[in-house]
Amino acid sequence: MNLGALEITFCGHSAFAFKTPSGKHVIVDPWLEQNPACPPRLKKPAKVDTLLITHGHGDHISDAVSLAKRHDATCIAIFETVLWLGKKGVSKLIGMNKGGTVEHDDMKVTMVHAEHSCGIQDGDQVIYGGEACGYVIEFENGIKIYHAGDTCVHSDMKIIGELYEPDIALLPIGDLYTMDPVQGAYAIRLLGTDVVVPMHYGTFPVLTGTPAKLRELTKDIAGLQIIDLKPGETLTGNLDRLALV
Ligand code: NI
Ligand code: MN
Repeated sequence: MNLGALEITFCGHSAFAFKTPSGKHVIVDPWLEQNPACPPRLKKPAKVDTLLITHGHGDHISDAVSLAKRHDATCIAIFETVLWLGKKGVSKLIGMNKGGTVEHDDMKVTMVHAEHSCGIQDGDQVIYGGEACGYVIEFENGIKIYHAGDTCVHSDMKIIGELYEPDIALLPIGDLYTMDPVQGAYAIRLLGTDVVVPMHYGTFPVLTGTPAKLRELTKDIAGLQIIDLKPGETLTGNLDRLALV
């Protein structure tokens, strides 16, 4: 597989920054400033065009409002979370729901199912944020990335694999709030995706799942590559892994 000019940078936890082949800057699950896994140089990105949000928990949405305002960026999220972002003063919003696809910034973004909760902590209140979701993002060069969000393993992953055939799956494996490596290994079999980047592990001591365990549980799957990107590393071109600069 060749990603061409597409750059996928792991910002730590579930946050990924994509530079699209045409040069747009996209961040999925912007939790950067207070994210202990996020390298300092990625905490204040210089350019942001679009933010994709999988759900309203703080470790996924915390920097959405400030980044959207600072960069006049568009936020894409599920309908009820978009209502909340609008109330917080974000002006460029695309609200959607599971099953929908939107074309934006040379990407086709499909919102897919995740099995998780989605309350938004706002001061001492918890606001209903709709449901948690994942995304399949197709870039203009045809590369498709599945960001699963926070989720347990679920049978829709079989549908996502068959319908969209993602080239790369970003899967949570940390346990406690999401899949552990056992569920992650099952998810990989459902998806049939050859390249997997684990996420949502190790940020806190309670997120105990490891890429090593995931590898051990999937060693019988021919052709599978589990790429344990370190925060700050970028994947591009022929799955070249560029370290921190
Ligand atoms: Ni969550
Ligand atoms: Mn989370």
